[in-house]
Amino acid sequence: MRAPFCVMKMRTISWNPKSPSLQVIDQRLLPAEFKIIELHQPEEVAAAIHNMTVRGAPAIGVTAAFGLALAGMLSPAKTVKHLWVDLEAAATLLRSARPTAINLSWGLDRVLQTAHEAADNGLSAIRQRLVDEAQRMADDDIAINRSMGKHGAALIANGDTLIHHCNTGALATVDYGTALGVIRTAHEQGKEIHVLVDETRPRLQGARLTAWELDQYNIDHDIITDNAAGYFLSQGNINSVFVGADRIAANGDIANKIGTYMLALAANDNRVPFYCVAPTSTIDLSLQSGKQIPIEERDPSEVLNLQCNGKPIAPSNSTARNPAFDITSHTLVTAIITEAGISRPPYLQSLAKAVEKA
Ligand code: MRU
Repeated sequence: MRAPFCVMKMRTISWNPKSPSLQVIDQRLLPAEFKIIELHQPEEVAAAIHNMTVRGAPAIGVTAAFGLALAGMLSPAKTVKHLWVDLEAAATLLRSARPTAINLSWGLDRVLQTAHEAADNGLSAIRQRLVDEAQRMADDDIAINRSMGKHGAALIANGDTLIHHCNTGALATVDYGTALGVIRTAHEQGKEIHVLVDETRPRLQGARLTAWELDQYNIDHDIITDNAAGYFLSQGNINSVFVGADRIAANGDIANKIGTYMLALAANDNRVPFYCVAPTSTIDLSLQSGKQIPIEERDPSEVLNLQCNGKPIAPSNSTARNPAFDITSHTLVTAIITEAGISRPPYLQSLAKAVEKA
């Protein structure tokens, strides 16, 4: 049964100034259950990022920023020096929640930086600045997604069939989405499109979350197993592939959800355009190539304990490996869409320009 909620009417993450607390959609329960939970402590925020209650690079960046705002509000510090100590400790904890998405560090650094600018105005000014800046980031995120949607929708024609990996929609951001935001914009422009949704093992963000969103937007779609994507690409009926990113190196190499690399290889082999959609906050110009991007390896139980007939799929003595992301070489990426426009190879120049423009 469809959940009694439309994601288009609500943000994935919202600040409640009364408690104070952060309200987030528990994405682990979807699509079976729609539940909002309140996070009151920075420790709870870090845990929610790590256990993927909140997930998706832009969403975790903003969530971490609000986590730091909570730390500022809750700190018993009576001096500015003391407050910095508490904020730095909270930032270290939040930063370690998930290593691959640069948005996490970017969000924390941005909030800390503006708080430092208010340092001369005293404790309550710093605390207010933390909240205001996190809120600004949340608002900006939606505007940026809508802008990427407009740029990227130009790459989609009426009647196109697309493949999409993981979840890059409203749930992965504050609202609207990155790659899925482009698909939404094309749909809102009246283009008829069909989306093949990679189920995205092992956490099934595609089958659980992307399909749930597409259903609410009335966008025509079919869920496919991840390993079926190559088959569909080889049949000649796919017009393009759209993915998001957790970090993009200066040369255009992309870290994204595990399985993205295989999808890019299959797209390349079949000469199907492969597009990556991400805000400039996902671009890490300090890294020359994807080889330097840290890849999160998650608990093997996520692979082993998936259920089949009500039982874990794997023998109890088996072990597993569970990298959450992989690196796709820039040579396989047709274009990268940011809020600054469409960047094409050579990415060393075009991405630097996009960051400067943004
Ligand atoms: O592990 P997740 O679900 O946080 O991974 C999400 C992705 O890989 C997304 O493609 C990426 O964060 C971009 S989301 C707009």
